[in-house]
Amino acid sequence: MNEIIAFVKANCSDKNKIRSVGFFPLLLTATFLCVPSSGDQFTSVSRADRFLSLFSIIRFKNAMCSGPSGLSGTCYTYKSCVKNGGRATSSCANGYGTCCVTRLSCGGRTTNNCTYIESPNYPDFFNEARTCVQTISLNSDACQVRLDVTEVNLVGPDSKGNCNNDVLKFSQDIKWTQVCGITRNTHFYLDVDPTVSGTLDFTFTTDGTSFNRRWRIKVSQICCTKLSMAPMGCGQYFTSTTGSITGWNSQGNPDFYLSGQNYAICLRQELNTCSTTYLETTPSGNSFYPVCGDTLEWPGVHQANTVTQKDETCKPGGAFAFFSPVEPYTIQQQGPHYFYFVTKDTSNEHTRIGTSADNINIQYTQNSC
Ligand SMILES: *[C@@H]1O[C@H](CO)[C@@H](O)[C@H](O)[C@H]1NC(C)=O
Repeated sequence: MNEIIAFVKANCSDKNKIRSVGFFPLLLTATFLCVPSSGDQFTSVSRADRFLSLFSIIRFKNAMCSGPSGLSGTCYTYKSCVKNGGRATSSCANGYGTCCVTRLSCGGRTTNNCTYIESPNYPDFFNEARTCVQTISLNSDACQVRLDVTEVNLVGPDSKGNCNNDVLKFSQDIKWTQVCGITRNTHFYLDVDPTVSGTLDFTFTTDGTSFNRRWRIKVSQICCTKLSMAPMGCGQYFTSTTGSITGWNSQGNPDFYLSGQNYAICLRQELNTCSTTYLETTPSGNSFYPVCGDTLEWPGVHQANTVTQKDETCKPGGAFAFFSPVEPYTIQQQGPHYFYFVTKDTSNEHTRIGTSADNINIQYTQNSC
């Protein structure tokens, strides 16, 4: 029986390497290369060695796998999984790996791909002031981090979109300088540079305000070479033919949009579709009008309107300077579609007409040709 004695590496080549030897322990150095994978799920090489007798190298993809309770994991060796704070569940890669589910609580740190960062004792709520830092050690060839937000429940912003009570901050990227409020079932992308800092920290700070807080975000590291990368600068990237676009605090009550945001919302026009229809789903039926100084720029509005200058919407002191498109509107435009959402303003009320709050809620459908 060979004993697996070493190995280790979660890297962008999608492979874990195991060396199993007859007798001698063998120390290996880990490689961090983002080379394209061969596509082979499983390769086995055996050779005779003068000193080590027979040893074999087994490689397998660090593929995504399904763990218990609907959680995703990554196929790693048992040792690599546990060493990096994961929990070994079912086996994968013909038994050479384990579906490694990693859940990080406050103060946690991991290199594991596909890690859930969670509030203390999730799904229990907590209600107290604390600072909670959760750290992802970045692969040296990761360019992006994708956040799949199951939920973030924090105290919401004031009516100017400022997070004065609870706040989530990221140590890299400047798309969102602050996050708070309630956000569910959406995703975001952060651009990261491991040469600037090898880690991405999520710092949650809560204050003494009485509120039931909790969060769960799945964090995946995206290799620079991967087709699954979002175009750089896209804070969200939608790649299905229908979907719903929401932002941070879109499920808040009130759902004031946040200040300190600057990102593009990007959509890929899928093969064999020729147009896209956009429709807002704000409860009152009103379109989303950020205050002036802030902007939501829609894709293709020049096609959707007869009135000029409609590619920016904002509301200076209650009078509309620009208008959002008349909805639903359908544009025929191949190539990616971009919304630009920039909220620099920290002093104006982030209200719709009158005093009610507002945020992004847009449905889209790509239509076949
Ligand atoms: C992390 O997982 C995602 C999804 O399976 C994959 O696309 C990406 O390449 C993985 N990243 C690394 C660093 O292995």
